[in-house]
Amino acid sequence: MYVNTKDILEKASKEYYAVPAFNINNMEFFHAILDGALEKRAPLIIETSEGAIKYAGNGDIFKGARYFVELVRLFADSVDIPIALHLDHGKHFEYIIAAIKAGYSSVMIDASEKPFEENLKETKEIVKIAHAAGVSVEAELGQLAGVEDNVVAAESVLVDPEQAKIFVEETGVDFLAPAIGTSHGAFKFKGEAKLDFERLKKVKELTKIPLVLHGASSVLPEYVAMAEEYGADLGGAKGVPEDQLKKCVELGINKVNTDTDLRIAFIAGLRKFLKENPKEFDPRHYLGAGKKLVKEVVMNRLEFLGAAGKA
Ligand code: G3H
Ligand code: 13P
Ligand code: NA
Ligand code: ZN
Repeated sequence: MYVNTKDILEKASKEYYAVPAFNINNMEFFHAILDGALEKRAPLIIETSEGAIKYAGNGDIFKGARYFVELVRLFADSVDIPIALHLDHGKHFEYIIAAIKAGYSSVMIDASEKPFEENLKETKEIVKIAHAAGVSVEAELGQLAGVEDNVVAAESVLVDPEQAKIFVEETGVDFLAPAIGTSHGAFKFKGEAKLDFERLKKVKELTKIPLVLHGASSVLPEYVAMAEEYGADLGGAKGVPEDQLKKCVELGINKVNTDTDLRIAFIAGLRKFLKENPKEFDPRHYLGAGKKLVKEVVMNRLEFLGAAGKA
């Protein structure tokens, strides 16, 4: 069934497990993720970036937002696991409005690069509009910045727990993404991965709401190796190890944003298939090879984050 993201995350927050939120741009990734969640009996959060919406709408963002709602609802309505659709990193008013109008379950207002007071004011406005439409809201505090050479990112870009408390109280936001040292993409750390767990712990104690980890892909070495064996160049790729993600979940993370891991798995499967089947040109066959590995990664994440069996 199609649900409000808040229903999925408040349960996760109470019971201390996390639900991965998987980014999609197209039908193939959605089918693979859905199949993985059904097999694991897990709640599911699908998310799309502004770029994904523009892509799916062939340039028209209202069509793009509607495309994803139609796609997700078509399948969500006929299965018995809870499924939500979330706008990831909403930075422009028009995308947030397009998502709310189209029927998204939740939206993220990402004004995290703006000064605190401005972030607070913009988030508060979006909360008012979204809540009136029954849509829940995520916001972000601090900036996602990588960590270099074992040194935690400069304090100034990480979340300030005291500010987080004020921010949550004044905005009425439903979920919060605190920056604790992760970054987007396949190249997160130069040395060992290092997150600020102490800071995360304080944010949870002071806010008590569901928390979100962005830039949470693990960049699994076996998939990177497979992609490279078949021609990819991903030298230096590094993610957040699974044991560190588990620690984040123990400290109160409930939504684990995952895009890069799916992209790498897909490209590994696709490259291998094309190399091994030079006579193939049926898109269902070569895209199917990518889908198979995406489903594998999805099931693994649902399992170790504790979402498996929670539907
Ligand atoms: O946080 C960003 C997501 O990984 C998606 O990014 O669709 O803009 O490439 P993108
Ligand atoms: P990754 O690039 O680590 O998959 O992070 C995705 C993300 O944070 C989407 O909002
Ligand atoms: Na998000
Ligand atoms: Zn993100």
